[in-house]
Amino acid sequence: MTHTQWYKDRVFYQIWPRSFKDGDGDGLGDLWGVYEKLDYIRSLGVDGIWFSPLYPSPGVDCGYDISDYMDIAPEFGGMAAFDKVLEGAHARGMKVIMDLVVNHTSSRHEWFQKSRRRIDPYTDYYIWRPGKANGRLPNNWDSLFEGKAWQFDEVRGEYYLHLFAIEQPDLNMDNPLVREEVKKILRFWLDKGVDGFREDVITFISKADGLPNDRLMPAARGLRKYNHGPHIHQYLREFYDDVLADYDCMTLAEAPMVNPKKALTYIEEKPGQEIDMMIQFQTMNADCLATEYVHLPFSLRKLKRAWSRWQRGLEGRGWNMLYLENHDHPRVISRYGSERMRERSGKALAVAYLFQKGTPFIYQGQEIGMTNWYPEDPEMYEDVQTRWHYFNIATRKSPEKRLRRLWLASRDSARTPVQWTDGPNAGFTEGEPWFYVNGNYREVNVARAEADPDSLLNFYRRAVALRKRLPVVRDGSYREYDALSGRRYVYAREGAGQRLLVVCSFSEAEQRFRAPAGFDLGAAELALQNYPDAPVDALRPYECRVYLWQRQAAPRYSCAKSPTTGSGS
Ligand code: GLC
Repeated sequence: MTHTQWYKDRVFYQIWPRSFKDGDGDGLGDLWGVYEKLDYIRSLGVDGIWFSPLYPSPGVDCGYDISDYMDIAPEFGGMAAFDKVLEGAHARGMKVIMDLVVNHTSSRHEWFQKSRRRIDPYTDYYIWRPGKANGRLPNNWDSLFEGKAWQFDEVRGEYYLHLFAIEQPDLNMDNPLVREEVKKILRFWLDKGVDGFREDVITFISKADGLPNDRLMPAARGLRKYNHGPHIHQYLREFYDDVLADYDCMTLAEAPMVNPKKALTYIEEKPGQEIDMMIQFQTMNADCLATEYVHLPFSLRKLKRAWSRWQRGLEGRGWNMLYLENHDHPRVISRYGSERMRERSGKALAVAYLFQKGTPFIYQGQEIGMTNWYPEDPEMYEDVQTRWHYFNIATRKSPEKRLRRLWLASRDSARTPVQWTDGPNAGFTEGEPWFYVNGNYREVNVARAEADPDSLLNFYRRAVALRKRLPVVRDGSYREYDALSGRRYVYAREGAGQRLLVVCSFSEAEQRFRAPAGFDLGAAELALQNYPDAPVDALRPYECRVYLWQRQAAPRYSCAKSPTTGSGS
């Protein structure tokens, strides 16, 4: 079956189900809530949805610990609700992709329960090892969530590997039977009509033969031995050849520690391509060192370097996935923008990424400018990784310091319920919400944003619509200007008889600005901006502008030098 690459024309919206919208009053977001909001999602101009896990799960890692891959959790509405949502999304022209979490299962999964009892064929479904002499662990790898990566299981009398929580045992992908299970899962959902998968930490599924020790820094020991492991390409290729090739679907791989060169070994558009797009983390590291828990002051230069590296690195060879937020990172306005200039900086951030080349993803709440959450009590945090950090790491630091670290780093900042109204529980539920609502909901909510034509929400709608209207955004080349500026991001897109200049201030102060040589702003259409009045010479705080030149407007077109827009204009 031909893969038509339909994802290249789309904009996706990510739903993290438990906090999106509660439809049945039990305090937990669910598919009935999603169903209610399908028109809202579509109204953003979005035409794709990525669902974080909806499967039955004990919820140790909020659904990323799956106990049944072929069903929908009853608390989310079960399969009946999913079918309705899928049909409703398709009827509105929206594709739907599921989260595929097959590096690990929940420890409650039937496979694990049988594996620990050595019941075939499940005996080798997981990575079991006896301990070493003197009570030492099988190797020195760390779990990314909770201490060491090995847990002793009394029933089996052996250790199992868990790169994440203790209740998330890693599957043994070297076992062909496990790979057959993955293929069954893929087919099951594709036959149901879903359009693709976001593949959770998929570059971790092949572990180095013999599970050798690693010398990487503590807390991430092992990463070099299981990320991009020895059989990763073989396994992904197998999934592609045996299943994905039969459907016009899309795959998006989450890939920690990847650069464009490495990414191309998976996503290069040539025969043998394994994956369509990758979620890279380099653009998430502009205010930290590898993880948000090692905080650094925000550096726009670092962010721009990452953006441009990916734009240039994949040019003509692979396709970018573009994002500012997801359920694993604190809110972007609080990190890279300004809470004081919340909407203004939110608009600049939107423009900064939405006009790059690739497929943009918008995370729930991003479109109304939800910000971080600052609880007073560490016990209010829910996330397994966050709690481990507070209660088990850096415990010699004062509680205040540790709490402030969570404010900057915790994933829970992006997991508070979506703020729909200024009513009780921000309109998220009529029951008792499963999690705390951010205290700013009276000011930051969808209803209020709907009523204001200049809101961030309506700006997102205009930006997405503009993006879709202009072939240059999909196909044009990318060039960055002012690369050394630490206060503004300027880039041009060119092709298809169109030229765009995107200018974004990342500063609360006014700054001088001159258009790069060759861009006659007087001849351009100002297609989008975040100030109500005409631009002045200076760039105002968090001002963003998108200038457009196009061939159709022949008399006004002034960039005839460029090869793609040359003759005939
Ligand atoms: C991915 C998910 C994250 C989850 C982890 C383990 O990084 O995005 O939410 O905790 O994998 O499944």
